[in-house]
Amino acid sequence: MQGERLQKIQTNDGSFTLKSEKYNECYHSSEGAVRESLYKHIYPSFSVIKKKEINILDICFGLGYNTFLSVLNRPKGVKLNLFSPEMDESLVRNLKKFPYPEEFEKIRHIIKKVSKNFYYEDEWIKIELFIGDAREYIKKLKNIDIVYQDAFSPKVNKELWTMEYFTQIKKILNKNGIITTYSVATPVRCALYKLGFKLYTHNTDKIRKGTIASFADLPFKKVDFEEKLRRVDCYYYKDERV
Ligand SMILES: C[S@@+](CC[C@H](N)C(=O)[O-])C[C@H]1O[C@@H](n2cnc3c(N)ncnc32)[C@H](O)[C@@H]1O
Repeated sequence: MQGERLQKIQTNDGSFTLKSEKYNECYHSSEGAVRESLYKHIYPSFSVIKKKEINILDICFGLGYNTFLSVLNRPKGVKLNLFSPEMDESLVRNLKKFPYPEEFEKIRHIIKKVSKNFYYEDEWIKIELFIGDAREYIKKLKNIDIVYQDAFSPKVNKELWTMEYFTQIKKILNKNGIITTYSVATPVRCALYKLGFKLYTHNTDKIRKGTIASFADLPFKKVDFEEKLRRVDCYYYKDERV
């Protein structure tokens, strides 16, 4: 996707995102890049994962909102290790020029380092980017506590929503780990359900509801997927590459 022309768009919370020509989709919903990242991914995850050191898989890096806002909202005294694949190298290299919200100025030095070296580390934060296919990268990971599942939609970015993909995610996710996503698509929920995940949705009305998946009992609204399966067939996406 290198060299692709990306159109800059302002979302409803004032933050900017991009529209991809290749996928014909925006990197964030019109609700707001910051709002979506915080309410769909970061707040629910940090509300239930209580550890001194947290490993986060950010699928995929894109403009880095999920990674950078995790850093800005890091719980006090907690070390964050963030792992994020991204196939579009030129996008990452150009992020130092992206018009992020003003609050990102505090971590300008981190944005510059990540954009140049695909890596950043200090006492409290480690960020590792992998330039390439997320499906290869996730084979190398382990002990993940949180997965921000934020690829383009299953319709256009199917390889990151398949049974094979989520089977690998299950292997690397800790027992009480959590997956957060904006997707409510039945084939996505079906794959997670078949893999034994409990399905929840977001408690807040500040954003459109997505899906939260975990093996743990969590304080979120339960999705009654058995009831859904009485009305529709359980089918999921398959990776055509394998
Ligand atoms: C919706 S955007 C991610 C938005 C991002 N979370 C953010 O906060 O800006 C999806 C990203 O996934 C990347 N992508 C799509 N398929 C991929 C794959 N198989 N491996 C790695 N990156 C992929 C795209 O290049 C794009 O940057």
